[in-house]
Amino acid sequence: MKLTKKLTAMAMAVLMAASLMACGGKEASEPAAADTETQEPAADTSAAEDTEDTAADETEDAATDAAEDAADQVSDEVAAGGNIGVCIYKFDDAFMTTYRNALQEILEGKGYTVTVMDGKNDQAEQNNQINNFIAQEVDALIINPVMTSAADQIIATVKDADIPTVLINREPTAEQMAAYDKLVYVGCDARQSGTMQGELILDTPNKGDINGDGKISYIMIQGDPENIDAQYRTEYSVKALTDAGMEVEELDLQRGDWDRNKGQEIAQNDLAKFGEEIEVIFCNNDDMAIGALQAIQAAGRTVNEDIYLVGVDALDAALNEVVNGNMTGTVLNDANGQAAGAVEAMEALLGGKTYAEGEQSIYVDYVKVTPDNAADFQ
Ligand code: BGC
Repeated sequence: MKLTKKLTAMAMAVLMAASLMACGGKEASEPAAADTETQEPAADTSAAEDTEDTAADETEDAATDAAEDAADQVSDEVAAGGNIGVCIYKFDDAFMTTYRNALQEILEGKGYTVTVMDGKNDQAEQNNQINNFIAQEVDALIINPVMTSAADQIIATVKDADIPTVLINREPTAEQMAAYDKLVYVGCDARQSGTMQGELILDTPNKGDINGDGKISYIMIQGDPENIDAQYRTEYSVKALTDAGMEVEELDLQRGDWDRNKGQEIAQNDLAKFGEEIEVIFCNNDDMAIGALQAIQAAGRTVNEDIYLVGVDALDAALNEVVNGNMTGTVLNDANGQAAGAVEAMEALLGGKTYAEGEQSIYVDYVKVTPDNAADFQ
């Protein structure tokens, strides 16, 4: 591993030197050539430029050869030691799609060979994928568990195979992770996102009490309740309201499993059942909020006038709705930051770092998103 890193660094240095040399020789002459387009006669500057080009080409060729040699050597090393297995709980999840694309891009950009598997929301299927990666002797694993409750089993499996592992998105407990010191969790503290959702409602002109009856009447569209993100966002969004001294009334709480269609169905049924009574729709994620928005619009209601709607993730679609005033706000769940953090932690593990109990969770901050800053994330 160390050798691979060193060689990668060497090859990078040679490649950079080669491209710098190439820049000096060629790119510098290109703008001149482009400039000459309007000055045709100068295009045939002949002998002097030919000589210059030849000299530059030779330097460039030598540098390129050296870089190619080094790169060949490195790609052998990387192929031998840089195989990474990534398990995603299911590909058909809007947020995890952004996340896995970011992961793949970062890993491939760093020269790793990456295989990403779709767990299809089936823990048994994911267990097989993990076992296959182990049989293929991957150097490291990045796993987004299908079920948080499978954490013990996953941790025992990777520990047994002695594979450095980064868990993402579904956080096990500190005690569970303590079983293996080559294991790290990278994610966010979901309590923070719940609190921010509550704050988005408190920041509205009537603090969420649209009808002025002294209480905030809401429905809660929850993700998969087995998931700590869903549990904390549900709890902390409402806690932010009560901590601020507001009275609350929960009209309904239903699981929408992070899914847009389920979000739409739940909102549609509740809007039919509770009508004007609903002042706030809390959704544990944006995909369900987009679904809820469809139901809100179909019911002839208007966000930010007669109902408030908040999500989490800052998906592109949600950012557009925040800008257009069709969502009250969302919370950035930083997929790029978490992907970068996961790769950094993986490289630390590959470099031989081990983690003590209580230090195995690495958190990336959430950010509150309103019409004022939504464009920053688009
Ligand atoms: C995201 C959801 C996503 C879930 C998957 C959450 O952190 O907010 O959009 O569906 O992770 O586990």
